[in-house]
Amino acid sequence: MDLDNYRSKIISCDYKILRILEQRYNCVLKVSNYKQRNRKPILDKKREEEVRENFLNNMNHTYFKKYHESEFLDIINSITDVSRNIQYRKIYRKNIVLIGFMGCGKTTIGRILAKKIGVKFLDTDYQIEKRVMMKIGDIFDKLGEEYFRKVESDVIKNITEKFCGVISTGGGSVLNKVNVKNLKSSGKLIYLKSSAENILYNLKRSTKVRPMLRQNLNINYIQKFIKSRSEIYNRVKDFEINVDDLSIDQIINVIIKLM
Ligand code: S3P
Repeated sequence: MDLDNYRSKIISCDYKILRILEQRYNCVLKVSNYKQRNRKPILDKKREEEVRENFLNNMNHTYFKKYHESEFLDIINSITDVSRNIQYRKIYRKNIVLIGFMGCGKTTIGRILAKKIGVKFLDTDYQIEKRVMMKIGDIFDKLGEEYFRKVESDVIKNITEKFCGVISTGGGSVLNKVNVKNLKSSGKLIYLKSSAENILYNLKRSTKVRPMLRQNLNINYIQKFIKSRSEIYNRVKDFEINVDDLSIDQIINVIIKLM
């Protein structure tokens, strides 16, 4: 076997794949223009199913079809993920960054919103937990708030350099100017504003530990805490949505219209 020969063939195949992908994604850019003009959603599940089916049905190598079909499915799924990201960047231009007090619904809304548009979702607290391999409550208890904030800044810096989609942030992340600068460079900051009553209601039902509120899950403390932060949220936000009297669907529709 002539190893060098096959290796050079592989490089040449990759070159062709790349050229074809560029051609494919150029078509996707045209589709983005159409969708933007006609206000069509990025995610079209029926169409994606059709693309997937077509791709797998066209496999004619029996060995690969028998043993590696699921990996080929991963390939076409990655290709369509990139298509959606390309459309998202073209149409929305910026990431959607949700900010606001603990318990205002950033994570819940962000996750559903990203699913609806068909882009990725990222929660900064979840990234911190993954990085430190500890729950937020344990990070505060064992390593301290200062350490938590350091990792939070680092995570935000990393995300904002390359992520494309919807980001939900921890309630205290915008207290740090560098975080605000990084978040703003990547997206539009949407402040989900909520009353202390609503926040208390949500927090009492939440399974996530909030170390900043541990002994103080009461209306007076939350009111004071919100007051101390609202000036910052107001200063850094690009848009504000009062979420108190809106359903999740309504909030999501407002965000999509704002972007
Ligand atoms: C914090 C908010 C939390 C989490 C940490 C600190 C804060 O995130 O980052 O407990 O200082 O407001 P949520 O806003 O998602 O609860």
